[in-house]
Amino acid sequence: MQIAILTGAGISAESGLDTFRDAGGLWARYDLADLATPEGFARDPSLVLDFYNHRRRAARKATPNPAHAALARLQKQKGERVTLVTQNIDDLHERAGSDPVIHMHGSLFGALCGACRTRWPAAPVMRPADTCPACGAESPRPDVVWFGEMPCHMDRIMSALAQCDLFVAVGTSGAVFPAAGFVDLARDSGAKTLELNLEPGDRTGAFDTGREGPASVLVPAWVDKVLSV
Ligand code: APR
Repeated sequence: MQIAILTGAGISAESGLDTFRDAGGLWARYDLADLATPEGFARDPSLVLDFYNHRRRAARKATPNPAHAALARLQKQKGERVTLVTQNIDDLHERAGSDPVIHMHGSLFGALCGACRTRWPAAPVMRPADTCPACGAESPRPDVVWFGEMPCHMDRIMSALAQCDLFVAVGTSGAVFPAAGFVDLARDSGAKTLELNLEPGDRTGAFDTGREGPASVLVPAWVDKVLSV
C-alpha cells in the first residue's frame, strides 16, 4: 500500500511551535502581507528576517513530539511506500528520524540569494547586511516559499498523489492551496483519504474519514494500526 502524508503546523503545535490560523496563531498576531510575501520582504527586509530569526530560534529549541516519532517509525518500516510531504519549515520531522522529508514550503534552516538563486545553510541570525557567498548580493532571504510563490517539489508531490492508495493529512487547516487540494487529487486517483486534526479543517468534507484530537495521540495510534496489518 502506497501512503502519501501531508503535515501542517498542527503536527508541531505540541512541540511548542506556533500554528497560523488557530486562536492566537501567527496570522492572528501579524499581517502575513508584511512577513510572508516578496513585497513585504522588499519593503522591510529587517522585519522579515527578524520574524524568521525568531521562528528559527524557536524551532531549534523545540523537540519532536510523538506524532513526528510515529511518522518516522512508519517510514523506517515501510520505506519508499511512504511519501512524507510537509508544509512546515521546521526540522522536527528530520530530527525525529524521518527521511526523506519533502518540504514544499522550504526550510527555516536554508538561505537563498534573491539575485543568483544560490542556496546555503542559514546562519542562526540572518541580517540585511549579510551577503551571498556566490555573487556577493546583499540581503539574502530565508529559503522559504511566500504567498504568491510556487511551492517546491511539486513534481514529486503530484507523482506521489497519483500513485497513493491512502492520503493522510495531519495538522493542517486546508486553508492554503495547492496543499488544500491534495485530497482531491488523491481521491481522483482512487486513494482513500483520512484527516487527523485537532478540529475539522476547511476541506474536511473532502475526506473519506477523519479523527479529531491532538496529533501526538492520533498519529501514533494510526501508525500502530497501519503497522499491525
Ligand atoms: N494536533 C493536531 N492538529 C492541530 C493541533 C494538534 N495539537 N493543534 C492545531 N491543530 C490543527 C488546527 O486545528 C488547524 O486545523 O492544525 C491546523 C493548523 O492550521 P494552520 O495554522 O492554518 O497551519 P497550516 O495548515 O500548516 O497552514 C498552511 O499556510 O501560512 C501558510 O505557509 C504557511 O505552511 C503554512 C500554510
